[in-house]
Amino acid sequence: MTASERFAILLDAVAEQQARLHGTDPSADPWTGRLARLFRFDPHRPLEPNLEVIAGYLRPDDVLVDVGGGAGRVSLPLALRCREAIVIDPSPNMGAEFDACRNGAGITNARRVQANWMDADGVEGDVVFSADVAYFVRDIVPFIEKLQAAARRRVMITLWSVSPPNSEAVLYELLYGEPMAHVPGFRELMSSLWDMGILPDLTVLPEPPWWEINLLRTREEAVRDALESGWVLERDMAVAREAISRNFDRLFTFEGESYRPRWRQPSRELLITWATGD
Ligand SMILES: C[S@@+](CC[C@H](N)C(=O)[O-])C[C@H]1O[C@@H](n2cnc3c(N)ncnc32)[C@H](O)[C@@H]1O
Repeated sequence: MTASERFAILLDAVAEQQARLHGTDPSADPWTGRLARLFRFDPHRPLEPNLEVIAGYLRPDDVLVDVGGGAGRVSLPLALRCREAIVIDPSPNMGAEFDACRNGAGITNARRVQANWMDADGVEGDVVFSADVAYFVRDIVPFIEKLQAAARRRVMITLWSVSPPNSEAVLYELLYGEPMAHVPGFRELMSSLWDMGILPDLTVLPEPPWWEINLLRTREEAVRDALESGWVLERDMAVAREAISRNFDRLFTFEGESYRPRWRQPSRELLITWATGD
């Protein structure tokens, strides 16, 4: 089996599980208002160390295309450092957060196209970037081919070393009673790139996941953090809260001054990038 076939098989299993257990409508926006808000950040904040590395590849005259750019967490601060930023993302909820964030920050050189990348026509940039999207892309080879064709100078992809949905598998099984179907990650992506004849640079960025840095000082904060990590459907919140509270001592350890989720493995952001064109 090739790595790209594995992408498709894993994501078909995820879709099957979501339809069977949660009745998920594949045409609905999976990024509900609550989830989309988690991705909204102040564009004028000082760049965090991981974004500093990414920004280091940009030139002031560049057009940046951010594929699956969500609420503009990356593209809006980078728009302040380049000529133009264009987000391509099909999610209306993410799009609403992007518009509000861009307008509130007074940024005039960033825009979005509400579309699946595979349906977006005529979008090109000097740098084509994509953060935390590949886990959800069933047909990864055409997706990458399109990133590459749209990039005049460079493609940049970031993924977490532990794919975020997978890192909550222990909680998922606790609530839904069966192992969570795993999404693909950087291993499958690197192998797919290799199979396509692309040999990218791979950099391990310094910071841990931005949603895992809160100090969880009380049991209530620990439970809330687990619930808000994005794995629980809105309608299952009350049942999930009860299940986490009941299993609290099995799930969390108290270290120094805060609770630490025992199930989370350390994860680091990986930057996968290669030059295109000349
Ligand atoms: C985990 S969010 C990441 C958002 C943003 N890149 C960030 O890091 O803050 C994944 C995003 O990818 C988008 N997405 C998923 N599949 C896509 C596709 N085929 N084309 C464009 N965007 C896609 C989703 O709508 C969602 O906004």
